[in-house]
Amino acid sequence: MKKADIALIGLAVMGENLAMNMESKGFTVAVFNRENGVVDKFINGRGKNKSFIGAHTLEELVEKTEKPRKIMMMIKAGSPVDEVIEKLIPLLEKGDIIIDGGNSHFEDTERRTKYVESKGLFYIGTGVSGGEEGALNGPSMMPGGSEKAWQSVKPIFQAICARTDDGTPCCDWVGSGGAGHFVKMVHNGIEYGDMELISEIYHFMKVILEFSAEDMHRVFSQWSEGRLGSYLIDITAEIFTVKDEDGTPLVEKILDSAGQKGTGKWTGITALGEGVPLTLITESVFARYLSSMKEERAEASKELTGPFIDFKGEREEYVGRMEEALYCAKIISYAQGYALMREVSQKYNWELKFGGIALMWRGGCIIRSVFLDKIKEAFDKNKDLKNLLLDGYFKNEVLGGMESLRKICAICMLNGVYAPSLSAALTYFDGYRSEKLPANLIQAQRDFFGAHTYERTDFPRGKFFHTNWTGKGGNTASTSYNA
Ligand code: 6PG
Repeated sequence: MKKADIALIGLAVMGENLAMNMESKGFTVAVFNRENGVVDKFINGRGKNKSFIGAHTLEELVEKTEKPRKIMMMIKAGSPVDEVIEKLIPLLEKGDIIIDGGNSHFEDTERRTKYVESKGLFYIGTGVSGGEEGALNGPSMMPGGSEKAWQSVKPIFQAICARTDDGTPCCDWVGSGGAGHFVKMVHNGIEYGDMELISEIYHFMKVILEFSAEDMHRVFSQWSEGRLGSYLIDITAEIFTVKDEDGTPLVEKILDSAGQKGTGKWTGITALGEGVPLTLITESVFARYLSSMKEERAEASKELTGPFIDFKGEREEYVGRMEEALYCAKIISYAQGYALMREVSQKYNWELKFGGIALMWRGGCIIRSVFLDKIKEAFDKNKDLKNLLLDGYFKNEVLGGMESLRKICAICMLNGVYAPSLSAALTYFDGYRSEKLPANLIQAQRDFFGAHTYERTDFPRGKFFHTNWTGKGGNTASTSYNA
């Protein structure tokens, strides 16, 4: 009997769809699921008369898979992944490959790669993006880990992944260790930022401009044809067309309390750890937390009054302004996300290819958009680009749209409308473009109360001074180390 080309553990929604996708591309797939009955149900249901091989134990799964074995886990991130790895190791032989296609934390993948390699096996941690539909018809895939295993899995991954319009697969080797899952984590952080920005613009349309769902559908559909064209703008336009049973827009019946599974938070934590100002994505994580405090906000809304909405602008003029503001903020968000990738890539020696990453995100994934072509072009021009805002195209776009971003943020502030990510974009931009910031005063304060020392504008960097500010403290300085 023919053995399987690849084995898949975990037949939840993503695993099942990925298995269907692999089979439809001509691969024989062995499948296993921890819960009894799931495999048989699949083999006799959706997988009937197709090239699937059911397995009821991990031993059977391994036995029925062609060497070098490719065993892909599509299971819950965290300890279940470690448990399955432990069970697989004694069953596998030198050169076999364990693949994790879940949303694992990149540091776990970094650790697991080393561990599995120490057992003579290979390990690949791959980001898989695109939800249920993507898994079935072509996700964006971001594999990293044991590079020696890439050539073995490449034909399968590049057959099942999404493709750009010119046919380039949205899947390529990302880097060693946890690089693939790191890039997927940043993808998710950017996804949080994009979603929050779109939601803030929706809020502006609703509260300030008093647009109807039909107006919003029209505007988002119009934007989807232009430079904002993206999956998230498309689904937003569609959301406004869906009515509840009483004929009113369903979106307005949904409780304003956002959930999250943690990858946005990980992105923010990584940025804090690495000292990268990832303000927009981090604000979008906090915005979800604040939204989830629904009952407390309801109480506070009775106590803490704000201004009445007073908007005197021309509503249709603001359609253009909102588009510009959204585009500017999106550029700034990606600039921050790419700055984080640059920093972490250097730390782990991953040598991430930033243009290639834009291409991998170009199709299949949640943040797919026409905009990513511009990022690819920017890194093709200069692979060492420090910040996307310094690329000629992005610089011009941001400078051109900044007045609109300022106006929209100002209107939100004056009218008491919550817009944390739009404002984070603006304040980051103003901070990044300022040669002088008030941090001299912070340094003076630190030196005043803790003798933490400061550098001077009239001396070269790296020379530290301490002043006895009151005449009462001593002249002994604290160390000048920076965390
Ligand atoms: C994807 C998504 C996916 C993510 C969900 C849920 O790329 O397909 O990023 O991986 O986990 O969208 O994310 P939250 O529950 O955290 O919003």
